[in-house]
Amino acid sequence: MPSPVDLPAWKALARHANTIPPMRDLFAKDPHRATSLSHRWNDLFLDYSKNRATPETLQLLRQLLKESKVEELRDRMFRGDRINLTENRSVLHIALRRPADQPLLVDGKDIMPEVEKVRQQMRVFSERVRTGEWKGYTGQPIADIVNIGIGGSDLGPVMVTEALKPFARRDLRLHFVSNIDSTHIVEALRLCRPSTTLFLVASKTFTTQETLTNAHAARSWFLKEASDEKHIAKHFVALSTNTAEVKKFGIDPVNMFPFWDWVGGRYSLWSAIGLSIALSIGYDRFAELLAGAHAMDEHFRQTAVEQNLPMTLALLGIWYNNFHDAQTHAILPYDQYLHRFLASVETFNPLGQHHDILLANFFAQTEALMRGKTEEEVRIELAKEGLQGDALEKLIAHKVFSGNRPTNSLLVQRFDPKTLGSLIALYEHKIFVQGAIWNINPYDQMGVELGKQLAKKIEPELTSPTPVTSHDASTNQLINDYKKRSHRGSS
Ligand code: F6P
Repeated sequence: MPSPVDLPAWKALARHANTIPPMRDLFAKDPHRATSLSHRWNDLFLDYSKNRATPETLQLLRQLLKESKVEELRDRMFRGDRINLTENRSVLHIALRRPADQPLLVDGKDIMPEVEKVRQQMRVFSERVRTGEWKGYTGQPIADIVNIGIGGSDLGPVMVTEALKPFARRDLRLHFVSNIDSTHIVEALRLCRPSTTLFLVASKTFTTQETLTNAHAARSWFLKEASDEKHIAKHFVALSTNTAEVKKFGIDPVNMFPFWDWVGGRYSLWSAIGLSIALSIGYDRFAELLAGAHAMDEHFRQTAVEQNLPMTLALLGIWYNNFHDAQTHAILPYDQYLHRFLASVETFNPLGQHHDILLANFFAQTEALMRGKTEEEVRIELAKEGLQGDALEKLIAHKVFSGNRPTNSLLVQRFDPKTLGSLIALYEHKIFVQGAIWNINPYDQMGVELGKQLAKKIEPELTSPTPVTSHDASTNQLINDYKKRSHRGSS
C-alpha cells in the first residue's frame, strides 16, 4: 500500500486545513448544519455537527477513504481473507456474532457450525450454573465466579459486565483477577469460599505468565480445602484455543470452551471469553449483545460512506490527528481535544431528578466547549452583576473561554445488551477504518510481545546473587535497587 501521505486527498486535506471558520460562525451561517451533520441508525443518534469541519472537509475525508481502498479491505475481512498479514490470519470476530444460518467460508470450510456449537455449550453451561443445577464438590450451588485472564481475556468482559450491571444476577458474584500483583487474587479470594467458587481460566494461548501464575495460585487455594484433585472438574473451566496446555493444567477438555486463532485477543469478548458475561446476565442477554454487534457489522458493511457511522467517526479522528491546526494540536493531544459524549434517554435506576440533571450537564458541556465565552459577553455579564473598573478588568481573563472545542455526541434510548453490542462494534470498526488508512494492522501484538520477552530475561536476574550489568544504565540501576532492598544480591 502507498503511504497515505502520498494520496491526492491527503494532500488536498493538508491544503484545506486551517481554513475552517470557528464553529460558532459555521452554525450561524448554516441553519441546517445540525441536521445535515448527524445520523440516526436504529435507536442510536450521532450528532457530529460540533466539529471543526465544513461539508468540504467531510467530502475530502470521504475521498481519502475511497483512495485508501478501505471498503475493499472491509470486504476482504468479511470474506475471511487473511488480512492480519503479520500473523497470516483471518480477522473474524464478526463471525462470532453472525447468525448461525449464514455460512462463512474460511479456506473452503464453513466455520459457522463450530461457532454455533460453542455458543450452545456456553448456553447450557451458563444456564446450569445460574439455575444451581451445576454443583460444587460439596453439593452446593456456585455463589462466586472468578475470571482469571489478562488483556483481551479480561478487559472486554469487565467492561461489558460493568456496563450491564442492571441486568446482572446479584446472588452470583463476579470477580476479575488479571494482575500479577498478588494483591489482586488475594483480595478476590478473601471474598470467596472454595466449595462455592467457579474459576474461569481465560487465555487464548494458555501460556500467558500472569494468567497461569494466578490460575495455579487459585488451584492451590482450592485444593487446600478440597484436598482431592478430582474436585477440580467442578470448579475450573478453561476458555482457550490451546487444548494441550489446558489438559496440562489439569482441566478436563470437556470443561473447555474453545475459540480460534482468527479471533484477535482484544476482540474476544464475543467468543468463549465472554462466558463470564453469559453467566452474569444470562445467555439470552449475551445473545442480544451479539445481535447488536451483528447489526452494526451489517451497517458497516452495507452503508455508503456518507451515512456510515464507523467511517464517519474514523474520518473525524483522522482529521484531528493528522491535519489539525498545528498550534492547537500542540497544546492538546488529539484524545483530549475531541471529546465524546454518550448518554441514554432512559435509565434503569430512576431516582428523582438524577437523569435530567445528568443530561442537562451532558448538553451543557457540548455547548460550553463549542461556544466558549467571548470577552464582550464576559464584560456584559460582569457589568450586569454590578462590577466595574479594576474589579471587572481583573476577572475578565479568567472568565473568557476560547471555545471552538469539538465534540461528538451519541444518544441512545437505553443501555441494554443490544445497544452496547452495537456501540462496541461501532468503535471496533472505527479503529479498523483508521488502521486501513494509516496502514496499521490493529490485530497483531508485536509491541506487547517484546515486553514479554524482556520480562522473561529479567526474571531469573532478580534471584541471582550478583548485580546486573547487561541492560542500559537506568534498567540496571532499577533492578539492582530492587535486589538490594529485597536482600537479593548487593549492588
Ligand atoms: O497483552 C497481550 C496479549 O497477548 C493480548 O493480546 C491478549 O489479550 C492478552 O495478552 C492475554 O493473552 P491470552 O488470552 O493468550 O492469555
